[in-house]
Amino acid sequence: MIPEATYLRNLRLAERVRDVPGCIVECGVWRGGMIAGIAELLGPERQYFLFDSFEGLPPAQAIDGPGALAWQADRDGPAYYDNCSAPLEAARAAMGMSGARRVELVRGWFRDTLPAFIPPAPVALLRLDGDWYESTIQSLTHLYPHMARRGLILVDDYYTWDGCSRAVHEFLARESSAWRIDRFEEDVCVLSCPQPAVPMDALPVFERDMVEIRVAGDLHLAAEERFSVVVTLVNRSPWDLRSEMPHPVHLAHHWLSDDGRTMVLYESERTRLAPVLCHGGSAQYAMAGAAPAQAGSYILRVTLVQEDVRWFDESVFCDVAVTVV
Ligand SMILES: C[S@@+](CC[C@H](N)C(=O)[O-])C[C@H]1O[C@@H](n2cnc3c(N)ncnc32)[C@H](O)[C@@H]1O
Repeated sequence: MIPEATYLRNLRLAERVRDVPGCIVECGVWRGGMIAGIAELLGPERQYFLFDSFEGLPPAQAIDGPGALAWQADRDGPAYYDNCSAPLEAARAAMGMSGARRVELVRGWFRDTLPAFIPPAPVALLRLDGDWYESTIQSLTHLYPHMARRGLILVDDYYTWDGCSRAVHEFLARESSAWRIDRFEEDVCVLSCPQPAVPMDALPVFERDMVEIRVAGDLHLAAEERFSVVVTLVNRSPWDLRSEMPHPVHLAHHWLSDDGRTMVLYESERTRLAPVLCHGGSAQYAMAGAAPAQAGSYILRVTLVQEDVRWFDESVFCDVAVTVV
């Protein structure tokens, strides 16, 4: 059974394909809990294809690693769940509760069911949860060619079972694929096709808060004193972000009253960002400025501006309390 935190991570990743047209496929469904959550999130208009034997896992092999062999041999283990076996009706019921209307459940071993499957549209999200090497490589072999360009493959077992990670490496190498393998937080592996870097304003609104600004240390300044602080930008969005002419992105800052309600000094000096901030990456900048002329307590709001396009101070900012004497 999927832990709650992992379940939520899968939903956050599924959210990334909200604007990617196409169908959703899960290989390894069990009772259908995870895919039903995804279906509830991505809506009833999509087509969902669920592949499973509905009679449990096939026997683990040496390539799946000693942990997999031991798990399958321990029939009384707390996480055995009858070899992950559940009836098709359980998954159908879960999908029924999700509101999804266009659902196809395909019973059988992947090696028999997947080769003939041609999805009616590119696959926006493929979730692999078949645990073993053979199940994973079968799923990749038959479904990777159908992936939407901005589609994602979530690999549930990459960090758990050796055979699954072997299958991912072997498949990507065999295809000479440039798809990236990313670790999303603790335990979800996500495969994605590298995309061209996007300008900051192309970032969907719901992903803007995935760009984080951090400011190191406290600031105690004299009136009008020049200062420099280290600002770290972290890009947790799935995109490489671009900053280039004629609309480069700058670090900028405002001074607000200490309750944050009144703008005291709007936009001041700006610090140019590097041309690309890679997804999952971070960069540090020395941001310079000058304290307000009046002594008092202020909020220094550090944010981003894309020149002649927009400010990002409603979603991408960091507030620092500053005392000016
Ligand atoms: C860990 S469970 C899936 C859990 C489910 N996705 C969830 O989040 O609750 C693994 C499932 O994969 C199925 N499975 C694994 N390998 C398979 C294969 N080669 N062919 C068909 N089904 C397979 C098993 O029947 C089992 O239901």
